[in-house]
Amino acid sequence: MDFQFTEEQLAVQAAARDFAQSELWAGVIERDEHQKFPAEQVKKMGELGFLGMMVSPEYGGGGMDTVSYVLAMEEISKVDASCSVIMSVNNSLVCWGLEKYGNEEQKQKYLTKLTTGEMIGAFALSEPEAGSDATSQSTTAEDKGDHYLLNGTKNWITNGSSASVYLVIAQTNPELKHRGINVLIVEKDMPGFVVGPKENKLGIRGSDTHSLMFTDVKVPKENRIGEDGFGFKFAMQVLAGGRIGIAAQALGIASGAFELALKYSKERKAFGVEIAKHQAIQFKLADMATNIDAARLLCLQAAQDKDAHRDYAKSGAMAKLFASKVAMDTAVEAVQVHGGYGFVKEFHVERMMRDAKITQIYEGTSEIQKIVISRELLK
Ligand code: CAA
Repeated sequence: MDFQFTEEQLAVQAAARDFAQSELWAGVIERDEHQKFPAEQVKKMGELGFLGMMVSPEYGGGGMDTVSYVLAMEEISKVDASCSVIMSVNNSLVCWGLEKYGNEEQKQKYLTKLTTGEMIGAFALSEPEAGSDATSQSTTAEDKGDHYLLNGTKNWITNGSSASVYLVIAQTNPELKHRGINVLIVEKDMPGFVVGPKENKLGIRGSDTHSLMFTDVKVPKENRIGEDGFGFKFAMQVLAGGRIGIAAQALGIASGAFELALKYSKERKAFGVEIAKHQAIQFKLADMATNIDAARLLCLQAAQDKDAHRDYAKSGAMAKLFASKVAMDTAVEAVQVHGGYGFVKEFHVERMMRDAKITQIYEGTSEIQKIVISRELLK
């Protein structure tokens, strides 16, 4: 492993840090409180190139590597994990999948707008009874010759109402099980497509999470990505990369909470000295910093695997499994270091503690990551 960052990677990290500090920090508590979607901030992320970071410049992307993406995700997640999940879904699940497996027409029509933020994308796999068990899709895409007839419900979809393009996973041929699943590009204004009410969530409250309902939605055949029956493999492939993005999000939440705890421990006095002088606090800070460094190494290892075209299913799952636990543990400890102040909103760490939890759930729960890792080990 060689983690000497290039000048370009360092410049991306600095730009993301600047953006997060100057554009995200000020309103983050209010957006969380009122579940307000960060529309202006997302527009700016598009202008700055954070929405299609790894896409080739030919389609309006930044042509950057996964390491740069991890560095940017960490910086943005340190301040606002709602913004970073919007960014992560658009980059990893939608843009990456379209560039890798879409045809030229699909790329020209959708990708060129998704990279700039003119359009936001969503990825619709989860269903009321198919979250972890992703092969059990009950949404159907019936083959009608020149189009598919889409019927079913999707749940917990990030960018649910802000998106205008949705990659929807649906079953076409149940006899073939996962090999009969397709992925279709669905536009928001297609008749029969309804976005359900917004979920009232514990964390990442600035991002909009909705259910989606499809009733006899006619999706043209040219909107299918890949060959007939490729949808499940598509989902597994994009999720393998997506897990690196969520691992970096978890890393960012952890390092954001740690930085606040460190600063506070040098300001707050108890028993006549700054609390950082007490060993009880020093032990917490040492554990947090050690775990965060380990999580960062796993994230960068997975990103390097992807950039070097090595298999990254295992390293990505390991990064997500570990970094999401570190995010949760660090945020809880950061609240503890802050004492009573940690329990009120103005000090940010209670929000980070709430935001951290989802990193152990979406894009595969921690238990799913262990399944992915152990399958690779036992191959
Ligand atoms: N790349 C390519 N193909 C893959 C793959 C990968 N990484 N992983 C599995 N596959 C293929 C297998 O090779 C197999 O294909 P064949 O039968 O043709 O050989 C096929 O997929 C089925 O694989 P499995 O038998 O391993 O499938 P399974 O039913 O046992 O489940 C699982 C595997 C890992 C548990 C999978 O269901 C899974 O990842 N579940 C979690 C889903 C998930 O992450 N959901 C999150 C929703 S999206 C989200 O959260 C976005 C957001 O809002 C932020």
